[in-house]
This record gives sequence, structure tokens and C-alpha cells, in this order.
Amino acid sequence: MGDYAIRQIVYVTMLIIQVSGDMHSASADLASIFQMEQQVNNVLSELVSQTETKLGIIRQYLKEYEQSVINETMDDKNEFMERLAGNPIHAYRLMKRLYFDWQLIEKEIKTDNWQSTLIKLEEVRNNEKFPKEEDFLGATSALVRLQDTYELNITELVRGNLRGRQTHAELTALDCLFMGKHAFDEGAYARAVEWLEESYILAGLENNQTIRQDHIMEVIQQAIDKHDEALHEAQQRMAVLSDTKSFRLPLKEKPAVLQRNEMIRSRKYDKDDAAKFNALCRGESLLSEEILGQLKCWYETHKEPYLFLMPIKIEQNSIRPAIYTFHDVLNDLEIETIKELATPLLARAKVLAKQAGSKTTVSNVRTSKTAWLEDKLHPMLHRISQRIALVTGLKVNSSFDEAEILQVANYGIGGHYSPHHDYLMKGKTDEELGKMNARELATGDRIATFMFYLNDVERGGSTAFPRAGVAVKPVKGGAAFWYNLKRNGQGDPDTLHGACPVLLGHKWVSNKWIRETAQSFNRPCLLDPDE
Ligand SMILES: *[C@@H]1O[C@H](CO)[C@@H](O)[C@H](O)[C@H]1NC(C)=O
Ligand SMILES: *[C@@H]1O[C@H](CO)[C@@H](O)[C@H](O)[C@H]1NC(C)=O
Ligand SMILES: *[C@@H]1O[C@H](CO)[C@@H](O)[C@H](O)[C@H]1NC(C)=O
Ligand SMILES: *[C@@H]1O[C@H](CO)[C@@H](O)[C@H](O)[C@H]1NC(C)=O
Repeated sequence: MGDYAIRQIVYVTMLIIQVSGDMHSASADLASIFQMEQQVNNVLSELVSQTETKLGIIRQYLKEYEQSVINETMDDKNEFMERLAGNPIHAYRLMKRLYFDWQLIEKEIKTDNWQSTLIKLEEVRNNEKFPKEEDFLGATSALVRLQDTYELNITELVRGNLRGRQTHAELTALDCLFMGKHAFDEGAYARAVEWLEESYILAGLENNQTIRQDHIMEVIQQAIDKHDEALHEAQQRMAVLSDTKSFRLPLKEKPAVLQRNEMIRSRKYDKDDAAKFNALCRGESLLSEEILGQLKCWYETHKEPYLFLMPIKIEQNSIRPAIYTFHDVLNDLEIETIKELATPLLARAKVLAKQAGSKTTVSNVRTSKTAWLEDKLHPMLHRISQRIALVTGLKVNSSFDEAEILQVANYGIGGHYSPHHDYLMKGKTDEELGKMNARELATGDRIATFMFYLNDVERGGSTAFPRAGVAVKPVKGGAAFWYNLKRNGQGDPDTLHGACPVLLGHKWVSNKWIRETAQSFNRPCLLDPDE
């Protein structure tokens, strides 16, 4: 009965997450696709070496023929043939070539290794994880998103430099042309021109290997024309030109295409959650010195014997709304166990979501990389739940609908979660509430979120709260905690938060959403250092 209720909650929650734009790709999936490619490349290498052996045999035959007649060449063709026919050595070699060499060549041609390679390729393509068009587009969008959020210098990006971290990955001129075309199709004309210019420069460095410079120049001209046309139209409409993706200053008036143009920039963070979110993701601080000075760090025991031995290290990230980081609340073994338990379920969640998809307009089911773990799966999960209860002073037993079961999420490169609220019911109309599961309604809203970080993320991946003006950086074994509801039971709009895109590496988190009804009379003040 309890299980059923939780499954219902999980089901509803999954749909909510998906339709609210949880666009990320899992690093676990990407790793297995890389592996797939490696297998296929072994088959292709084998094909290349077999084909080269074949070509070698044919080449050798042709070479022998040419060498044997090279000094007999004459202007008169008839005389040439007679000369060959009248020579016993030529006659012998002719017979040897046609009788012996030809057999070898025919045998090689008859052994077809193309077909077996094709079968192997098709076999891999049929794997459900094999990338489709939407995955290619997804990867392209991820790169664009990273460029936007982190204001990446495109010149450095294509050479593998990700905000100061030099990697061994690079883009070719043709890759940049693709990116430029993608941006163009999205109407981001200024972005398109940037990518195309970079493509032009790279093509020069590559000696026109992946794409020719004159072709790129044609595309650049088109993009510039389109840009200036769109800019002119926007100016006619008196539109605000703060969209740097779409517009720069008129490009035609610049003397040379390859001259970088000033971007029209506007940095109005005051009202713009998205701009603040991006700034926080880049590591900019939005808190005043005064507030920063008030934030505290302390060791907490809650007067619990267990915690006397190992007090919790608490870092206060924000005062209003209250956001905290707990350090070292999971050990490495626990982290590995959670990941191991979740990994096979990440795949299964996809299938479940597919079936549920018939009821929604989920376009990209593959982006769902979450798994749900019940405490009874492993004694360690049970202990982890007890620890959350101890640390927060809240009731978190999912058998009694006090909290949801543990969610595990895996984000890959560019994986992000746009700013959202965790509460599900506050702010909904009666009609919307009427459509929700009765059992779920009875458990109450998500009063608080407890988010474990299961790894360090090399670059990016912070949890950013644009209205609170803070970002929590993922630190392995730590956890972020905040109340989504105010003490009066209203949703706290200032808890708006999102996951910054992962720039380098991957990100695993695990969430425990604590429900409202069970805590009604005992929301503790334990976490206020002054109380
Ligand atoms: C053909 O002529 C070249 C150059 O004159 C000579 O080096 C070579 O030995 C000759 N080959 C034969 C088979 O006579
Ligand atoms: C981007 O990086 C390149 C190479 O480091 C540098 O020359 C260029 O000035 C940078 N561009 C901007 C807009 O910062
Ligand atoms: C590349 O091709 C362009 C014409 O498209 C030519 O002008 C240029 O010299 C070539 N560059 C190199 C390095 O070959
Ligand atoms: C939750 O409640 C069930 C049923 O009473 C119990 O078996 C389980 O140990 C509890 N879990 C935790 C984490 O306390």
C-alpha cells in the first residue's frame, strides 16, 4: 500500500520533471556510446587492413606487368606486341600472370568483407543507445548553452580551452561550420557569424582539409546579409537589442569580415532570473559584502550522542531564504553504493518514461537520467535516511510518506536544469490540484530539499539560486539543504534554483524531497545558529 503511494508520487514527479524541461544527457550513457564507437572502429580498422592487402596484391600484379614490358615500349603497337610474343621470357611471364596471379586476384575479390562490416555496423546502430538526430542536436545545443552560460571565448573553446582548463579536445573548421549553421537556423545570427569566422580561420590553419575557405566565405556572406537585415527590421520595430546571440552592430559596415565586432551588451541582473543564474554559474558573487559578512560556518551536534562523535560541518550559504551546505555527510563507500544501485535503474527509468510518454509531449525521452531507490534496497540507504533525519531534524521515512524515496540523477556534459521551484502544489489553481493524485495531496508539498553531491565536478554544475544570489558548488560527500516553503506554509519563490550546465566532467546528485504533512507540527529551528 505504502509502496503503491510512493510509486504514484514517483510517477507524477517524473512527468513534472520531464515537461518542465529537464534537458540533460547522462554521462553514463555517453561513456557506453564511446565504447560502442571503439568496437566499431576495431572492425573498420580490420576492414582497412584486409582491403589494403587486397589492393596490394592487385598493385603487385600491375607493377610486375609494367616492369616486364617497360623497356619494350615502341611507337608502333603491332611491333611492340610481336616483340613481346616472340620472347620466351615474356611468354612465360604472361602465362604465369594470367594463370596464377589472376586466380589470386579473383579469390581476393570474391571474399567479400564489406558485407560483414556492414552487418556489424547495423548491429551497433540498432542498439537503443545509438545516437539519433535529436542527440546530435542535443549535443549542439549543449555546446551553445555552455558558450552562453559561461561566456566562453569561442577562439579558446574550439582549441579545447574551457575557462582556463586546457583539454586535448578540439573542433575542426567543419565542426565550426556546423555550429554556425545551427546558430543561423535558430535565428542567432551574430552567434552564427562568430562560429563561421572561427571556421574560416581554422580552415586556413588546416590547409582547407575539412572544408574549403571559399565555401565558408560564401556562408559568412549569407549570414551577414541575414544579420543586417534582421537587425534593420528589429530597429524599425524599436525592439530592444539586448539579445547578443542575435545581434551585433551592423556587420557590413565593418571593413573586413574577420574583424571582431563589439557585442551589444546589457547586464541588467536586477530583474532577470536567467541572467543572474548565468552569472552565478560563472562564479560571480551577487551578495553584498554586508550579507557575506553575516554568513557563518559552524559545527553542529544537535545534542545528539551520535553527532558528538562526528559533528556536522555546516556552511550557511544564504540567510533569506535559508540555504545550507553540510560537508562530509556521505563517505566514499556510500557514494559508490548509491551509484552502483542507481546505474542499472537509470536505463530502466527510460523505458518507464517512454510508456508514460504516451500521455505527455515528452520529445526527448533519452534525457531522463534519474533513478529512484527505496531504502529497503540496501541497508546503507536506510542508514543514509536516518542521517538525513538526524541532520535536519525532519521526519523522512518514505514508508509513511514523510518523504519521497531517494532520487539519483546523472548529468552529462552540458547537462543542466533550468531554474525552477521544487514545490509541486503551491501556486497551483484548484483545478490543477484537482488533477493530482489524492494520496500525493495528502502527503503535502515538498517542504524541504536535501541534495547530496556524489562527486566533484571539474568545471560547472553548481546549484544556483538566482533570487537568493548564491550558488552552491558540488563537493563530493556534501549536501545542500533548503526549505522550499516558508514557515507560514506558503511556497517561497526566492528558492528558485537550477543546475548550472556541466562544463567539464560529469555530475551525480541524489535528492531527498521531504514532504510537508508529516512535519506540520515540528518544523525544527535546529538549523538557525542564533536559536
Ligand atoms: C630497363 O631499362 C632501365 C634503364 O635503361 C634499366 O635500368 C633496367 O635494368 C632495364 N630493365 C630490363 C628488364 O631490361
Ligand atoms: C579570446 O581568446 C583569444 C586567444 O586567447 C584572444 O586573443 C582574444 O582576445 C579573446 N577574445 C575575447 C573577446 O576575449
Ligand atoms: C585554402 O583555400 C583558399 C580558397 O578557398 C585559398 O585562397 C587558400 O590559399 C587555401 N589555403 C591553404 C593554406 O591552402
Ligand atoms: C521506516 O519505517 C519502517 C516501518 O515502520 C521501518 O521498518 C523503517 O526502519 C523506517 N525507516 C527508517 C529510516 O527509520
